[in-house]
Amino acid sequence: MSLVIAIDGPAASGKGTLARRLAAHYGLPHLDTGLLYRAVACALLDEGLQLDDAEAAVAAARGLSLTDFDETRLRARDMGEAASVVAAMPPVRAALIDMQRSFAARPEGAALDGRDIGTVVCPGASVKIFVTASPETRATRRALELAGRGEEADYAAILEDVKKRDARDSGRSAAPLKAAEDAVTLDTTDLDIEEAFAAALKIVEARRG
Ligand code: CDP
Ligand code: CDP
Repeated sequence: MSLVIAIDGPAASGKGTLARRLAAHYGLPHLDTGLLYRAVACALLDEGLQLDDAEAAVAAARGLSLTDFDETRLRARDMGEAASVVAAMPPVRAALIDMQRSFAARPEGAALDGRDIGTVVCPGASVKIFVTASPETRATRRALELAGRGEEADYAAILEDVKKRDARDSGRSAAPLKAAEDAVTLDTTDLDIEEAFAAALKIVEARRG
């Protein structure tokens, strides 16, 4: 059976890094599903439209190709916030689900990370990991990441962002951020990347049996 690894968690918990590392380790393709929501938001902003314009957001989601977007722009701080607004609209989520499920159904397997991979996109995934870390740790990580890219990185403002986005993502009715019942939670507050990867690898190996 193919190996499908589902990694979910809040902003800057390290889920993308873990999904990428696990994908490389097992030779799987990796999809960062947050980029899809970021790209829909980016398409609306580029056209001067409101982020809550559901019709335009669905149209952007249907024709979406990530190669049309500049990844640095998608990963900018304001785009995370904008993505979380478009992601709360159920028709936008519905328009993106087939693409994610087709990716996960590749014969060789796949690793996907996001908010609802274990709960909605791939409920039958072989392994589900819910990655967490304290808001303060996550804000510190994001500030370092942004500073490394030469972006403004005010810690207090980033902490505020992280908390606001967590609340919106967890509180929405459509595919809220939460651990699947059969997910293993990995708290990375006190783990560096290597330690978190080693712990994630153990979880995958245990599940593979
Ligand atoms: O990397 P970070 O966790 O900051 O953000 P992201 O994973 O790129 O996701 C940006 C936003 O997209 C999130 O705050 C969610 O609102 C939304 N998202 C979602 O709803 N479902 C997913 N599977 C992935 C992202
Ligand atoms: O995908 P997500 O937004 O959950 O987080 P990420 O992009 O994987 O990680 C956010 C930042 O935290 C990156 O700069 C990682 O290198 C860093 N990180 C870390 O310092 N320690 C960890 N255990 C995991 C990630």
